[in-house]
Amino acid sequence: MAFPTRRPRRLRRTETLRAMVRETQLSPRDFILPLFAMPGKDQRTPVPSMPGVFQLSVDQIVAEARRAHDAGVPSVILFGLPEHKDAQGSSGWDPEGPVARSIAAIKDAVPEMVVITDVCMCEYTDHGHCGELVTARDGRVEVSNDATLELLAREALCHARAGADMVAPSDMMDGRVGYIRGTLDDEGFTDLPIMSYAAKYASAFYGPFRDAADSAPQQGDRRGYQMDPANAREALAEVELDLDEGADLVMVKPALSYLDIITRVRELTDVPVAAYNVSGEYSMVKAAAAADWVDGTRVMLEVLTSIKRAGADLILTYHAVEAAEALG
Ligand code: PBG
Repeated sequence: MAFPTRRPRRLRRTETLRAMVRETQLSPRDFILPLFAMPGKDQRTPVPSMPGVFQLSVDQIVAEARRAHDAGVPSVILFGLPEHKDAQGSSGWDPEGPVARSIAAIKDAVPEMVVITDVCMCEYTDHGHCGELVTARDGRVEVSNDATLELLAREALCHARAGADMVAPSDMMDGRVGYIRGTLDDEGFTDLPIMSYAAKYASAFYGPFRDAADSAPQQGDRRGYQMDPANAREALAEVELDLDEGADLVMVKPALSYLDIITRVRELTDVPVAAYNVSGEYSMVKAAAAADWVDGTRVMLEVLTSIKRAGADLILTYHAVEAAEALG
């Protein structure tokens, strides 16, 4: 017989049939929207490298959170632009800082919104690194792992006290999940979950974010603490450590160049897995769509579907509201 008997095309003939056999269903519930909190009032400063993304004062961040909620997006993650930066990043635990104030304002206006906070020092240090700098034995200036743990714990505690629903350490110091867990427990926040940026790579895809968060390192790079893009097994080791230390959810970041890592982490653990569709991934889609080189909406949905298909339960994405609206 010249013709095939199994014909997969039979199930592709109509949209109803295709929808019935679709394996991966994207939903607005999958998305977490990153927002950048700045001081002041009525401020919406566009981020030039990220069309559609703004640095927002507290009143504006509440409006944005409300928009996300109306579109069916259940959660936001907050990043801070402080008024003042210093070597330690002390604004990171300022209870009057833009993140702490935004948490309280969002929880007040949209109580169901799950407010997550990014916990890291790079937005608050004047040198732009994710922790405190020290001179090592061999004379190199590097980020001190153990001195940074205490600073991160202060920041996480500040967010917890302001009413955050979850904290997400993104610094990549060794032992930080356990240290933050211990501090939160000691202060009575035993029920506050930690989503760890468990496998976070030293990626060039963070470029536009560093404009948005004003957090580029003044000198050097983050390769001494973030992961080498060439490593996969190491990601699994990082995830296991964070789980041992008490991480409730684990994240892979970036997403698109690391879909294999998402799949392997998904196979390793039964806790929820998140993936961060980072700034550079967003900006590439926006730039190509603006030039009319690709259909922006379709590419966006295809990207997000691939991340979910790879195994992510949750996707942190600047596309969150747009994608939720496109899904209807
Ligand atoms: C903080 C942090 C970064 C991102 C999230 N948290 C930047 C970095 O590590 O340099 C990147 C997010 C993005 O690119 O969208 N350390």
